[in-house]
Amino acid sequence: MSEQIKIRKAVKEDWEKIYQLYNSLSDEDLYLRFFHLYRITEEDAKRIASNEDHVTFLAEVDGKVVGEASLHKDGEFSLVVDRNYRALGIGTLLVKTLIEEAKKSGLSAIKFYTLPENIPMIKIGRKLGFRLRFYEDEVYGEMKLMEKEVNINLATSSSP
Ligand SMILES: CC(C)(COP(=O)(O)OP(=O)(O)OC[C@H]1O[C@@H](n2cnc3c(N)ncnc32)[C@H](O)[C@@H]1OP(=O)(O)O)[C@@H](O)C(=O)NCCC(=O)NCCS
Repeated sequence: MSEQIKIRKAVKEDWEKIYQLYNSLSDEDLYLRFFHLYRITEEDAKRIASNEDHVTFLAEVDGKVVGEASLHKDGEFSLVVDRNYRALGIGTLLVKTLIEEAKKSGLSAIKFYTLPENIPMIKIGRKLGFRLRFYEDEVYGEMKLMEKEVNINLATSSSP
């Protein structure tokens, strides 16, 4: 299957494909993606495709967009995969792509929030090495990408 899956950055013209993907999602999927139930508008789909304050990657199978993953400037990301294409490794592939993108962008960490019952997302986080924190109503996953540079000013002042 993996040779048929193409992961690529979204371009403006993809908005309709993104809109179609979102229209095919169940209420539950939308809730998991946005943390509340929300049906996106055409304008929202255009914003997702714009890459303006985030970067979006798409998973395509035979030209059909079956997954979308967006990484925001603060390192938070979220994703969704079409129900008919799940458990094939697409979600894992998308998150791996976002990790690489976050590293390239110089982000110090990448993170996600999900619900405690979201087993596939928790599996992805665990498998890829995210540090997971479990709370009553959410799970927080974080991966540090860079240790902050410690600037130790070793002043080599020569005493008089
Ligand atoms: C989370 C989501 C993106 C995962 O997509 P996916 O393409 O199925 O992910 P993968 O195929 O990489 O599967 C990840 C793991 O979950 C497992 N898995 C997939 N579906 C499963 C299910 N219904 N029950 C249990 N495990 C499942 C896979 O076997 C895999 O396990 P492994 O790593 O041990 O092999 C997808 O379920 C989804 O779109 N959910 C709704 C939106 C959402 O929850 N977004 C996340 C918000 S942060």
